[in-house]
Amino acid sequence: MKFFLDTANVNEIRQALEMGLVDGVTTNPSLLAKEKRDPQDTIREVLALVEGPVSLEVLATDTEGMIGEARKLASLGSNVVVKIPMTEDGMKAVRTLAGEGIRTNVTLVFQPVQALIAAKAGADYVSPFIGRLDDISTRGMNIIEEIIAIYTNYGFDTEIIVASVRNPMHVLEAALLGADIATIPFGVIKQLVNHPLTDVGIERFLKDYEGLKK
Ligand code: G3P
Repeated sequence: MKFFLDTANVNEIRQALEMGLVDGVTTNPSLLAKEKRDPQDTIREVLALVEGPVSLEVLATDTEGMIGEARKLASLGSNVVVKIPMTEDGMKAVRTLAGEGIRTNVTLVFQPVQALIAAKAGADYVSPFIGRLDDISTRGMNIIEEIIAIYTNYGFDTEIIVASVRNPMHVLEAALLGADIATIPFGVIKQLVNHPLTDVGIERFLKDYEGLKK
């Protein structure tokens, strides 16, 4: 399973890169705004740091506006993937962009047939938002299972990015289901790496070894 980092924070990206845990990055307007700096500077730095796909989202909501923005974003680097919202206008934009060889990630997907539609339109990636479904008492991970089944039935190449990941269990379940990618906030990456028994174990090994010197 590929690990994408769900962040626009370059320090977080640097730290995760050092651990070899950045197969790609996903951003969105909220994450860029959180950085409280010129988003263009952030985007430039992220693209320079990351070799893998970097998702950058359009702000336009109409087809022509999305296509125009997507072309500009795609010109920033060969690793840019343009994030397009799951709407009628968005699907028209995805179809045109696929024809131009511009890669897209269809975002804000909340039910499996939306993912089928995104794949038929020619999306390279689809981003079902798991945490936001859990927030409204709907088991988000169910739609991952169903999207995998649908894509397998018809042999779609569209990769599934498990998004809106909030905790280690989301990553575990995504991996057990065989999802292609999870896009994970840096805080959750740290939770995945650490375990209290690992810390206790290290402490005990060092203490026992110290005893040898006495
Ligand atoms: O990848 C999508 C993600 O950034 C949304 O996460 O936590 O705002 O639902 P969240």
